[in-house]
Amino acid sequence: LDDLLGEGVSGRRVLVRADLNVPFDKTNPGTISDDGRARAVLPTLVALRDAGAKVIVCSHLGRPKGAPDPRYTLAPVATRLGELLGSPVAFAADTVGPDAQAKAGALDGGQVLLLENLRFNEGETSKDDATRGAFADQLAAFADVYVDDAFGAVHRKHASVYDVPARLPHYAGGLVLTEVEVLRRVSQAPDQPYVVVLGGSKVSDKLAVIQALLPKVDKLLVGGGMCFTFLKARGHEVGKSLLEEEMVATCRDLLAQAQGRIVLPVDVVAATEFSAEADAVTVPADQIPADRLGLDIGPESVALFADAVGSARTVFWNGPMGVFELAPFAAGTRGVAEAITKIDGFSVVGGGDSAAAVRVLGLDESAFGHISTGGGASLEYLEGKTLPGVAALES
Ligand code: 3PG
Repeated sequence: LDDLLGEGVSGRRVLVRADLNVPFDKTNPGTISDDGRARAVLPTLVALRDAGAKVIVCSHLGRPKGAPDPRYTLAPVATRLGELLGSPVAFAADTVGPDAQAKAGALDGGQVLLLENLRFNEGETSKDDATRGAFADQLAAFADVYVDDAFGAVHRKHASVYDVPARLPHYAGGLVLTEVEVLRRVSQAPDQPYVVVLGGSKVSDKLAVIQALLPKVDKLLVGGGMCFTFLKARGHEVGKSLLEEEMVATCRDLLAQAQGRIVLPVDVVAATEFSAEADAVTVPADQIPADRLGLDIGPESVALFADAVGSARTVFWNGPMGVFELAPFAAGTRGVAEAITKIDGFSVVGGGDSAAAVRVLGLDESAFGHISTGGGASLEYLEGKTLPGVAALES
């Protein structure tokens, strides 16, 4: 972005791919529950706006199926972005249609327009190169240059991320640069001891990253819904807890391969049902009653995990330890997150739910080394995969 600003952007049309895929409050439709991703792209938008560019922002939101779907409109995000920028953000009711064309054509230097959800168009996510390419042509026609600051989407081979940069002079935004630099540091030369904390619901989503990280880490702490498949693999009954039966054998292999470096909870908070009002008790991890499901790690596990984290010089954390959105099951995530803030070293929070947890639980964001905006993207980076969006910027 600095290179582009150095060239001068006054009056030029700049297409910015942002990741404005923000979570919404489930009980209060239309209300953004965590605007962290919108805040993260502000420096790029402010720099371009203040340098007099005509700024056209595009993003996806959720996973609509290639056609307009009012549940996934970016309209509330345009409003929020305008509040954050302190200047109005125009909103186009379509992505590349007549409204977008009219509003993009009417932009003056220093003005910002947000296009409607990219994924309302089947060309955005299509596996067919020609379909994606045709949509990329339409997007590219809006602009003279392209800036990618959507780190959260760089692992997607989508038109706005992968195909547009092949059609326009392209630049990395500051957020993408910072994210890649931090993850490169963590994956190539982490200060030792290196401890990884993984949570979230599914082992299958994290299998590739576990396999990639296991040879590099001193300890891999596993909490969240995925820990129950590991507990089962260790021979414990898990009651009604989340279980991926087909992954139990894989977890058994991973535990054997890890030779003690995978650390599992020793106690869990188990409830009769998935509800904040349900009767909840703390039980040893090998004694989960048949009629209960584990919804958080227990206090002894928090102490165990905090101890492991406390001696680390590098910590990477992805995935909550429990259902932190429900108050009775937030202590595990809070306790482990607080321990991470206290380390004498560098910590990275790997996007998605864990980044949201930091903000929703009111933790001090500045106490972490880096909070990534990319969940899947940061995991795929650590897996060592080539990220299509990064590769497209480098070519
Ligand atoms: C994310 O939430 O990780 C990014 O916005 C990418 O979203 P996606 O997983 O729907 O592609």
